[in-house]
Amino acid sequence: MALQNTTDRGNWNSKLGFVLAAAGSAVGLGNIWAFPNQVADNGGAAFLIIYLICCFLVGYPVMVAELSIGRKTRKNPVGAFKSLGRGNPFFPVIGFWGLLCGTMILTFYNVVAGWTLGFVFEEVFHFLGQDAVSAFFADLGNGNKNALFSALFMTGTIVIVAGGVSGGIERATKTMMPTLVGILLVMIAYVIFQDGAGEGLRRYLTPDLSKVNTGLVLSAMGQAFFSLSLGMGALITYGSYLNRDQNIPQAAAYVTLSDLLIAFLAGFLIMPAMFVAQNQGIAIMDPQGNLISSTGLVFNVLPAMFHSLGGGIGLVLGVLFFLLLSIAALTSTISLLEVPVSYVIDEHGVGRKKAAVAMGLFVLAFSLGVSYQTSLIGVLVNIFNNIGLPLGGMMICLFLGYFWKTENALLEMEDGFPGVSENSFGKIWPKFVRFVCPVLIAIVFVTSLQALL
Ligand code: PHE
Repeated sequence: MALQNTTDRGNWNSKLGFVLAAAGSAVGLGNIWAFPNQVADNGGAAFLIIYLICCFLVGYPVMVAELSIGRKTRKNPVGAFKSLGRGNPFFPVIGFWGLLCGTMILTFYNVVAGWTLGFVFEEVFHFLGQDAVSAFFADLGNGNKNALFSALFMTGTIVIVAGGVSGGIERATKTMMPTLVGILLVMIAYVIFQDGAGEGLRRYLTPDLSKVNTGLVLSAMGQAFFSLSLGMGALITYGSYLNRDQNIPQAAAYVTLSDLLIAFLAGFLIMPAMFVAQNQGIAIMDPQGNLISSTGLVFNVLPAMFHSLGGGIGLVLGVLFFLLLSIAALTSTISLLEVPVSYVIDEHGVGRKKAAVAMGLFVLAFSLGVSYQTSLIGVLVNIFNNIGLPLGGMMICLFLGYFWKTENALLEMEDGFPGVSENSFGKIWPKFVRFVCPVLIAIVFVTSLQALL
């Protein structure tokens, strides 16, 4: 039993394997779907700049914190806070909060992931001239169809998670991540040379500072936590499989930069694509004159653009795009499921395969509810993503900074990064965890609460 809690839990086979798996968790619908939407909504590069600041000032330090807690304890988030919390009953609550947020995020994420998979079929049947069938796959409000695709997506996730840390997650992400980057680059290379693309690029890269307000900063902060998979213990869990010779600050930097790069690149695809669509006569503004975003952008404007390109090229681009989204989503759902799975393995002594099936089906039950009631998605996003994750991140920082203590975390990082306690990282990072991150998160919370009242 004790052994299962430590060495038998699984390990990443290589450094690259870990970085790809963690980047796979980070890169998801958050990058390719939500980020370009936020950019379109929030004044182009104005959002980009605030987002970058959130990622570097808050996201990166929290990621290092999560990975150190994970590697030190070699446990799931609940077990990790239990073991570092020295019997204090409050601390495991931080882990349970993460578990709850992760599980609830997975319930809706899985439905949106199912939509993206459905659109692969939509594109194929459109090409074949089967318009009724194609419309079926495009119908986001069709509960039975949503349920079917959620179930399909969850099955894929369960199979990979059941395969284990290196044999399942690491192996799968090692092929999926390069495929994802390849598809993204091919699509950018095509879209960027189409008529109209220039206007999209201009909108993307020019900041409209009049759009900056507290709401935008809260969105950027929520987006940073969501996109970097922080605040709910996914990276505590992935960190718990890290070997002791790995350099934690460096690995976290690779993951943060890959996530930013993919989001930035996705902007180079989506923003130009919108204006290529406009050039083809497709409406891309709502009646108020704002760019269409959210589900309307990815699931209406872009398919309409692929269709109007017509023929083979429309088919290829459409299928590639929705495959890209599906792959990005799958590498993230794996990590979302891994958190509750590692919890029941560690804390309740359940075997991995059983744990993966049980937790997967448990989450799927909720996903089925969301499939029939898609208006729940917005509510879940607000509670568990926009508030839940930054709140979790704040509690992780306060716990590490004032209870476990940054000296001990740095001591943990010495393995794999000798001398870290004494160098400039070792001097700066503790200040971020103790002051900068919690204070910034608190300011964002308070001002947005005020805005609500
Ligand atoms: N980071 C993922 C994305 O951007 C979502 C996610 C959040 C995954 C939290 C794991 C944990 O889509």
